[in-house]
Amino acid sequence: MTRVFSGVKPTGHLTLGNYLGALRRWAEVDQHQADALFCVVDLHALTVDHDPARVRRLSRQAVTLLLASGLDPRRCTVFVQSHVDEHARLSYLLECVATDGEMRRMIQYKEKAAREQARGGSVRLSLLTYPVLMAADILAYGTDEVPVGDDQTQHVELARDLAVRFNHRYGHTFVVPKATSPKVAARVMNLQDPASKMGKSDDSGPGIVYLLDEPEVTRKKIMRAVTDSGQDVVHDREGRPGIANLLEILAACTGGDPEELAGGYASYGALKKDTAEAVIEALRPVRERHRELCADPGFVAGVLRAGAEKAQERARPTVDAAYRAIGLLPA
Ligand code: AMP
Ligand code: TRP
Repeated sequence: MTRVFSGVKPTGHLTLGNYLGALRRWAEVDQHQADALFCVVDLHALTVDHDPARVRRLSRQAVTLLLASGLDPRRCTVFVQSHVDEHARLSYLLECVATDGEMRRMIQYKEKAAREQARGGSVRLSLLTYPVLMAADILAYGTDEVPVGDDQTQHVELARDLAVRFNHRYGHTFVVPKATSPKVAARVMNLQDPASKMGKSDDSGPGIVYLLDEPEVTRKKIMRAVTDSGQDVVHDREGRPGIANLLEILAACTGGDPEELAGGYASYGALKKDTAEAVIEALRPVRERHRELCADPGFVAGVLRAGAEKAQERARPTVDAAYRAIGLLPA
């Protein structure tokens, strides 16, 4: 059976981008077709300036939203990264396989490090090594497929490269994984700045739809989305990025095709109105289940306990094998 692994960082409130690019597919497809593990990758949240209490709160909220999005703990494994030591154990071995140059080429590292430096802050070493920890997350489970949004493909490529290199040097140990991304909405853009990704840790609230936004707030954000000059509704990512983004969001929420949907609109206003309604309807069940789950913290805690145990059982043999293969003396 195909093994699937994916994760989400608790660095901010989850967004429509997370949902359409990742979570929804995990719930609708992956957990039914594969042996799937989904992880709130809390160690990754420590790579940038962080507040401990906030990370704790956001981790619990992210787990609750994963379940609210439809992940069923009877069908898949839901857990928190720091509960399973194998991730950090394997990460160090992979640091001994990855190179400094390879790390510095990562687009996300370059962007985030530049932003941090522009603010006069310092860049944590873990921001540089973060893709290695991500590779460890993936490789520890013998993962075949990693369902992610477009922004993560370079990181999954690195995981592939490290798996191939390790296997070549030390003998076959890891499955070589591949990224899979959704047909539409693989990169949902910021509504106020359609040239940048809708990212949860960004500061520009008005351009980001959060899963837990009230419907009225969501409607306002979408109605105020920046559109392009011009009148006619066409799907053109380069020339009309604002409209293309709305068409993709609408298509993802209604199951349609962005090009075909474009033909049905004579004005930007009508497109915004329908997109707002479609998003509100898509998120309604998630918000409702989230409310129910918040009333039952014991259930969520139980899911995490069982999830960590199951995840560790799966990861340990592979990580132990990697320790032996690389030359460490068995304990
Ligand atoms: P992150 O928020 O970076 O932890 O991402 C968790 C998952 O959501 C990853 O698979 C990302 O690729 C995906 N994701 C995050 N933001 C977006 C976006 N704006 N559009 C599509 N997918 C996204
Ligand atoms: N780096 C991913 C992101 O920012 C989150 C992540 C960490 C991840 N480990 C992973 C995704 C393993 C898929 C598989 O979105």
